[in-house]
Amino acid sequence: MVKLLQKDGNPICSKERQISRLTEFFDGDKFELLKANETPAIHNYHSQEHLCIRQHLNELKKRLKPKEFIILDIGCGNGSSIEYFIDIADKIEGIDISKAQEERAKQRFSGNPKVIIKQVNAFDLSKKYPAIFDAVVCLGSTMGNLKDQIGLITQAKSVLRPDGIMLFSVYSEHARDAQIEWYSSIGLAISDRTCDTLNVEDQISKRFTRQELGQLAKQAGMEITIEPLTEIGYLAILRNK
Ligand SMILES: C[S@@+](CC[C@H](N)C(=O)[O-])C[C@H]1O[C@@H](n2cnc3c(N)ncnc32)[C@H](O)[C@@H]1O
Repeated sequence: MVKLLQKDGNPICSKERQISRLTEFFDGDKFELLKANETPAIHNYHSQEHLCIRQHLNELKKRLKPKEFIILDIGCGNGSSIEYFIDIADKIEGIDISKAQEERAKQRFSGNPKVIIKQVNAFDLSKKYPAIFDAVVCLGSTMGNLKDQIGLITQAKSVLRPDGIMLFSVYSEHARDAQIEWYSSIGLAISDRTCDTLNVEDQISKRFTRQELGQLAKQAGMEITIEPLTEIGYLAILRNK
C-alpha cells in the first residue's frame, strides 16, 4: 500500500490530505484564472453579492455605531472580496488557509494600515481571536468548499460580538449549470460528487437550499434571514438569538 507522506516524512491523515489538496489548488494560479474569467452568470452573482454585502454592512454600522467598525473576512483569497467593504470598515482582518493567497492579499493592501491579513485556518478562529468582530463575512461561496459547515459557523460565531452579524454568500440549488460553465471555461476537471456537490480538481463546491441553511443556523443556535442574490446564489444573514 502506498503511504502518502508530508514534507517532514510523517504520514498524511485524510483531514490533512484534504487541507493539503485545498491549499495546493488555491496556492496555484487556477483560482486566479477563474476570477479573471467570470462567465456572465457568475459575474452577476458576484456583482449582486457586492451590492448586498455593502448594504448590510452599512445598515449594521448605523445600528451599532461602534467606535471602530471591525470586520473579519474568512477565506479572503487574494483580497478582492475585502475591496467590497474597505471604505465602510475601520479595521479588517482577512484570513486564509493558503499561504499564496495570504501573500497576494498582503501585497494588495500593503501600506494600508486598516487591513491585516493572516494565514489562519477558519477552524482555529476561536483559538486566535476573542469575540471582537462587528461582522464576520465569508464570500464567494467559500462555505461550499468546506466539508464541516456547522464547524465553520460555530467558529465564526465564537469571534462575533453578541449583536454583530455573519454574512455567508453561497451557491443556491440552481447553480449547477453556472458552476460547470465557469469551471469548464478554463478547463478544470469537474464531476458530480453528489446531487448538490461538484468535484472540481479534487475540491468540493457545494450548493445549498434555503432549508439546509435554516438547519445549519438552527444547529448553531442562531437566527437566519436568507436573501436571494441572483438565481444561483443566496446571502445567509445570521444573528445571535
Ligand atoms: C472560493 S475562494 C473565495 C475567495 C474570496 N473570498 C472571494 O470571494 O474571491 C475560497 C477561499 O477560502 C480559502 N479557504 C478554504 N478553506 C479554508 C479554511 N479552512 N480556512 C481559511 N481559508 C480557507 C481558500 O484558500 C480560498 O482562498
